[in-house]
Amino acid sequence: MRNNQVRLNCGITMPVIGLGTYSSQNDRETTELAIHMALKLGYRHFDTAKIYGSEPAVGNALRKAILDKTIEREDVFVTSKLWGSDHHDPVSALKQTLQNLGMEYLDLYLVHWPVKLKPWACDSVPKEEDFEKLDLESTWAGMEKCMEMGLCRCIGVSNFSSKKIERLVDFASVSPAVNQVEMHPMWRQSKLRETCADYKIHVSAYSPLGAPGNAWGSTAVIDSPIIKSIALKHKATSAQVALQWGISKGSSVIVKSFNKDRMKENMGSFDLKLDDQDFLEIDNLEQSKTMRGDFLVNQTTSPYKTLHDLWDEDI
Ligand SMILES: NC(=O)c1ccc[n+]([C@@H]2O[C@H](COP(=O)([O-])OP(=O)(O)OC[C@H]3O[C@@H](n4cnc5c(N)ncnc54)[C@H](OP(=O)(O)O)[C@@H]3O)[C@@H](O)[C@H]2O)c1
Repeated sequence: MRNNQVRLNCGITMPVIGLGTYSSQNDRETTELAIHMALKLGYRHFDTAKIYGSEPAVGNALRKAILDKTIEREDVFVTSKLWGSDHHDPVSALKQTLQNLGMEYLDLYLVHWPVKLKPWACDSVPKEEDFEKLDLESTWAGMEKCMEMGLCRCIGVSNFSSKKIERLVDFASVSPAVNQVEMHPMWRQSKLRETCADYKIHVSAYSPLGAPGNAWGSTAVIDSPIIKSIALKHKATSAQVALQWGISKGSSVIVKSFNKDRMKENMGSFDLKLDDQDFLEIDNLEQSKTMRGDFLVNQTTSPYKTLHDLWDEDI
């Protein structure tokens, strides 16, 4: 199966469909099996993060495939992310990530959130006493150092609003290559996509199906009557419509499935062609953000007192 590529501003290419590896179960064996299956189905782009706990499984599965010569390291694109408690020292954090993966380099390293936490804060939901003031200049200098040292081929951000992107590019020596954000037919990110296009920053869509089955997600996208009717018209599925919509907007889509049939179905979104009427109908869908980030907002210690502070005018 084919997996189209997108060129990033740092000069490298990235397969448009990526496999997400966040799973609340975080079962190593299941994740490894899923990655073996995904490789067989043509997936060549894998998205992990230190906080997901999936780095060892991703690394194991990919190393095995490299050892048995199914793939070469250069054939796969691996992304991981800097957690808030590692903003103090991105180089050491990335070295730890590479150790977890058993790899020599990452293709893409992202600042997971514009949030800095105390170095010992290790929970995915920070406690009130965990927050520190964000010092983006020093975090980004650390990210640039990671790239300079050859620990990653590209650097980027995640969950950054238009305003925070503008602040970052203002002082960055190396512009972010990617902003990975929630994006699907019911959270279309039109303003952010425009801002990122102005700076040649690729927008990568996470939760491209609206994260059905995840604690923060819902089936609103795949159960939407409009999405279903578009799918019916094209003899496709709702998931394929959602994914092709993201791809048509120029984004990569990071979709998680550990199920062989659904992985195959998601890859099949490449074969779907949406028409003008479909885009129009999707543009009229009510918008609803699933990953709101309430867990990063508080009145005392977080630099974000409200959701508006976190997302600026993009919410
Ligand atoms: N940067 C960030 O802050 C951030 C935040 C969230 C997510 N992410 C990344 O993005 C990835 C994907 O996001 P996500 O997991 O939140 O949401 P998603 O990919 O939109 O949805 C995943 C859910 O959809 C199900 N699914 C997959 N294909 C399907 C299909 N064809 N039909 C019906 N259901 C289907 C999956 O179950 P099965 O496995 O059973 O198929 C899973 O429950 C994550 O794994 C992670 O790598 C990044």
